[in-house]
Parts: sequence; C-alpha cells; structure tokens
Amino acid sequence: MTTAPSRSFPSNFLFGAATAAFQIEGAAHEDGRRDSIWDAFCRVPGAVINADNGDVACDHYHLYRDDVALMKDMGLQTYRFSTSWSRVRPDGGALNTQGVDFYKRLVDELLGADILPWLTLYHWDLPQALQEQGGWTNRDTADKFTEYALDLHDALGDRVNVWTTLNEPWCSSFLSYTAGLHAPGHYSVEEGVLAAHHLLLAHGQTVRELRARDESLTLGITLNLTVADPADPDQPADVDAARRIDGQFNRWFLDPVFRGEYPADIVEDIRTVDAAAVAAWEAAVRPGDLEAISTPIDSLGVNYYHGELVGGTAPANPPKPGDAPTDRPGASPFPSHEGIFWHERGLPRTPMNWEVQPEGLTRLLTRVWSEYAQPAGTVLYVTENGAAYDDELVVDGGEPRVHDHERVDFVRDHLSAILDAVDAGADVRGYFYWSLLDNFEWAWGYEKRFGIVRVDYDTQARTVKDSGREYSRIIGARAIEH
Ligand code: NOJ
Repeated sequence: MTTAPSRSFPSNFLFGAATAAFQIEGAAHEDGRRDSIWDAFCRVPGAVINADNGDVACDHYHLYRDDVALMKDMGLQTYRFSTSWSRVRPDGGALNTQGVDFYKRLVDELLGADILPWLTLYHWDLPQALQEQGGWTNRDTADKFTEYALDLHDALGDRVNVWTTLNEPWCSSFLSYTAGLHAPGHYSVEEGVLAAHHLLLAHGQTVRELRARDESLTLGITLNLTVADPADPDQPADVDAARRIDGQFNRWFLDPVFRGEYPADIVEDIRTVDAAAVAAWEAAVRPGDLEAISTPIDSLGVNYYHGELVGGTAPANPPKPGDAPTDRPGASPFPSHEGIFWHERGLPRTPMNWEVQPEGLTRLLTRVWSEYAQPAGTVLYVTENGAAYDDELVVDGGEPRVHDHERVDFVRDHLSAILDAVDAGADVRGYFYWSLLDNFEWAWGYEKRFGIVRVDYDTQARTVKDSGREYSRIIGARAIEH
C-alpha cells in the first residue's frame, strides 16, 4: 500500500487565526468604552438568541496575555484581531487613551511572542453615537472612520505593519441595513446601498491616508466572497440567478475596489426593484469617490465559508431551511432576489446549515487572482475560514479534550484546497482559521462554536480542541501530512 505524499506550503505562507473585538473582548463598560451598535442591538428583544451580549464574552480584555501564550504554544505565526472603535473613540469622535492603551499592550504581547499582529480597523462595531447620526448611511461616518484609523496609526504605527480597513462590508451593509439580521437591524434597500458605498469610501480614503503617512505599510480589505453555481448551467434562468448572487455578493465590492466601477448589470437589477434607492445611491456616489475606493491595495483578504447552488426555478428537492437564530423576521439581504432559489446538491452541512465545499475555495481563489488581484499587483490571504460544530468536552486520559474530528477534516481539506489554488498559480500568502476561540457568533449568541480552542463561558477555561492540535502539527511541519 502506498501512502499519499504530504503537501508542503510555500516558504512565504503565514499561518494564523482570527478573532474580532466585539466577539471576544468583553469589558464592555470598562476604561471609557461606550456602546457600539452591537451592544444596542443585543438589547433589542429577540435580536440575539438567548438575549446574549458582549459584556463578558471571552473576557479577552483581561485574559489577552494567556491567549497570546496559547497562540505561541500553538505555533501561530500571525494573529488577526480587530480594534473596537467604541473603545478608541467611544462617541465616534474624541480619543480615549485608555482604550488605545489596551491595543498597545496586546500588540506588545504579540510582538514579544514573535507573532505578527494583523490589525483590522472595523469588524462591525460602530459606535452607537454615530448610528444615531445615521451610521453608515451618513457620508460623514466615512470621514470619522479615517480619523479613527489615523489615531490608531499614531499610537501603533511604529509596531503594526499590516492594516486591514474593513471586515466583510457586505455584512455591515446589506445584512445590517437591508436584511435586518445584524446591527442596527434595519430593513431598507436604500440604506443598504448607501451603507455599502460609504463603507467602501471609508476604506479607500483611509488606505490613501495611511499610505501617504507610511509607504511601507501592508494595506488591504477583507471581503466575504462566495462561489455561486447555476443548478443547471444549460438553463439561462439558473445562470442568471448565479450571476445575480455573484454580482450582489462579490462584484458589488470587488469591482469598485479593483476597477473603480460598480457592476452596471447589478445597478440595473436593483433599479427594477427599487428605483428610489438607486436614485439616492447615485446622488451619494460623488465625483472622485470611485478613484478613492480603488486606491491600490497590497493584499486582499478572502473570507470563505461555503458556496451556493442557485437556480431560477424552485427545485423539486429544496434544501432543508436552516434554523433562524431568533423569531425576529429577516428580509433578504439581496435587493434583487425575486426568482432566485437555492438548490440542494447533497454536500455535508455544518450546524449553521452551511455546505462544506473545499473545492469552492480553490475556484474562488483562482478566479479572484486572475480577474482582480493579479492585474492589480495585489496578493491574496484567506483571512477567515472555519466551521461551527456541536463540540463535546470529554475527559480523556485525565485531560479535558474536544475530539472535533469534523473540524480537523475541515481545516485539512480547506488548506489542501488553498494548495490546489497555489498550484494553479494563485499567489495566496496565508491562512487564518476562524476562530482562535469560541466566541459571540452575532445573532447566534454563544450557541455556535467556531473555535479551535474551546471556551467555557462560566470559568473562562480554554481547551485546545483536536482541530487546534492538528493545526499546530500542520504549522510545525509546514505541510499537510497523511
Ligand atoms: C464572518 C465574520 O467575519 C465573523 O465575525 C463570523 O463570526 C464568522 N464569519 C462566522 O460566521
């Protein structure tokens, strides 16, 4: 019997894990931090499962030293975290030095452990004071964001080299202002398109300002991208459904960032469903905005969880609908969703009801590389990929263990899919598992666990799961071994 050879990673490939401020920090009312839109949303009855909130979360604000030690033990080379705008500028405006000091301590701890800090400026937690002025529907929020970024650069620019402006602006626009499922929980197509534009503007003008201050910074944005396949590639209605999902999810963000234009087909699709929203959006896109938005970036972060199989007609065998987090109604995050149906293709699904589809990641990376990143001289990182499973804590040989074999396979298969993309020519420079820790999964509260490290929310004990052990082995060997 022959065993398959192990597959090695290129020498420039970085292994990391990711988290976000609101999901792990806790200390929501300490050292001058004020409410973000997520603190406020958690108080809306029915918005978050079990009425969970971010008050304590993983208490990382107090336990960050232990968490960095854990990362070091696991062999992580880099750690992607986000800063909380509500800690740094609690009202969106004036600086709170106590808030910035936390990030100085965290970054120093990471550097001391030889872990590269990868800083994301916005992972959805807008100061509530700015939401009261319209949030991302207000153009002024983009300017406030740039000021906040420059404050952080003043404080951390000497020791943080990698800066990501936004995490998943599709979520902080359409899922938040159109679908009502994320904070601030609004149901408006117009607000969704305005928010998306102002987020992109915030990104572009911040890259421009940071670059002007320091040319050596590595600057980028993280997008959540998908692979939309037509149920039947010979059926024009199915192909059109896939085009619309790709356009509203991927191209709405990739095209302005890399090409300085919005996808015209999608603008027209949205116009047919909400002409007033498109008119308001057209008025909001001012001369010069798209030039700012397409300021060159060094790296594109790709967050990939699953693809979609879609058609233009209802399938005979529709996928079992996923559970909704709560009874609170959600609208479609896609303005043009009429006549799009999701189909089943028999792939395994996680408890989020997300398909497990590693080969989609290979196709996504090779496509994004050849159509967007390579022509722009931008390299790719997978800044998130991971899965929630119904983990069980057991005692094994006297030790607490989580035998999460599905997540072990998930990590191995997705890393392998990245190597397939690298073999096909895509310049992918790293992988961040989502997430280092079990944490606050937005509207799902603490019910869904994505970590490679288990968190006991009563004691704050951390237990490295088998997936974390496997990931460490892969990092140590710089190879997937069989
Ligand atoms: C993407 C988001 O960036 C992160 O905050 C979230 O927890 C994961 N996906 C899992 O849903």
